[in-house]
Amino acid sequence: MDPIVFDWLSLIVRWIHVITGIAWIGSSFYFMWLDAHLTKPNPPRERIEGEIWMVHSGGFYLTEKRKLVPGEVPPDLHWFKWEAAFTLITGLLLLVLVYYLSAEVYLIDRTVADIGPATAIGIGVATLVVGWLIYDLLWISPLAARHESWATVLSCLLLAGAAYGLTQVFGGRGAFIHVGALIGTIMVINVWVRILPAQSAMIAATEAGREADYGRGLKAKQRSVHNNYMTLPVLFIMISNHYPMTYGHPYNWAILLALFAVGAGVRHYFNLRNRGVRNRWLIPVAAAATVALAVATAPRVDDDAIAEADDGEPVAFAQAHATIRFHCTSCHSANPTHESFDKAPNGVVFDTPADIKERAGRILARTVVTKTMPLGNETEMSDEERLLLGRWIYQGAKIDGE
Ligand code: HEC
Repeated sequence: MDPIVFDWLSLIVRWIHVITGIAWIGSSFYFMWLDAHLTKPNPPRERIEGEIWMVHSGGFYLTEKRKLVPGEVPPDLHWFKWEAAFTLITGLLLLVLVYYLSAEVYLIDRTVADIGPATAIGIGVATLVVGWLIYDLLWISPLAARHESWATVLSCLLLAGAAYGLTQVFGGRGAFIHVGALIGTIMVINVWVRILPAQSAMIAATEAGREADYGRGLKAKQRSVHNNYMTLPVLFIMISNHYPMTYGHPYNWAILLALFAVGAGVRHYFNLRNRGVRNRWLIPVAAAATVALAVATAPRVDDDAIAEADDGEPVAFAQAHATIRFHCTSCHSANPTHESFDKAPNGVVFDTPADIKERAGRILARTVVTKTMPLGNETEMSDEERLLLGRWIYQGAKIDGE
């Protein structure tokens, strides 16, 4: 595909994905908030479960939550469904555009698993399909009906298994995005397969003059609560590809799960607060856990290894330069020769010695410490070469004659 066409296509799809995602998650937050803030009408009125006055953008709103009278069909019922549908459609398109069309670059890391694009894409698609089936079967099973907390624990364990498994077959970035895509797919199918049909059945019942089965409504609400807890973790995953210290870490799956727990914990705090319960420790614990995670996973340059590799001889710039030319400039050049890039990724070029020296700190971070460059280790850079660059940078990143 023409690179310009590709970039614009990707821009448009990503833009729509973010917009519909905001609309969807926004309404998820809003309805959780609404449900928690409704008050019983005083004096009680028939079929009114709760009501609330709100003021927003210069207007006053009176909203009530009510059960339908058999035979009553609201004339103009607004459904919240297209936000979710378009988030999924655009999300899957992005997955194909970014990760499947350039599987060699973004999905596969041959130092993790030596698989080809077809296998990788097959695993990716299967994860989404099988993952949702397992989740759904679990939550319609008697176990979930009788022991909701056990089903929750089991779901978390299964998710942990998926995260671990994916990091064993894909590069970190590809693994993370598939965990995110799996969660996102579950969330959208929850809306379309579990929540909307339950709502339709309730309307059909009242239309036929019967009392709606509000038990179905409660089941639908359970899925909606799941979705609500998954919002913050999934948002982290969507921005995670900017943070190589997470997906590029040897324990990337554990970092992902820890941040998942932090996100869900913060969401829990807000859900409790909405119900009038002030939990004092959730936010401090989430904050402390994030700091602890940052400290525990702080990429340490293997100073010892660099020192050990040091034979007392200064590394000549020519050696560092040759390494970079071999492993980096196919992409990081004003005129890249790599087929997937028509311009330097992130504007980072290593064409001149000055370009290289200027970015020595980032070269250390990406190549020596997190080993997330070269991308997908396509050029099979060895540890010795990484240490060579590390030594050159430690010795002051000197260009000959300095
Ligand atoms: C196959 C293409 C490819 C190769 C080869 C490659 N990179 Fe990158 N690089 C990228 C892409 C794509 C990005 C932007 C995404 C990202 O940051 O992960 C990037 C971003 C960067 C950044 C900027 C982001 C930051 O963290 O500051 C640096 C620095 C970098 N690469 C260094 C290197 C070095 C050093 C090498 C060689 C050892 C290298 N890259 C090889 C594709 C490549």
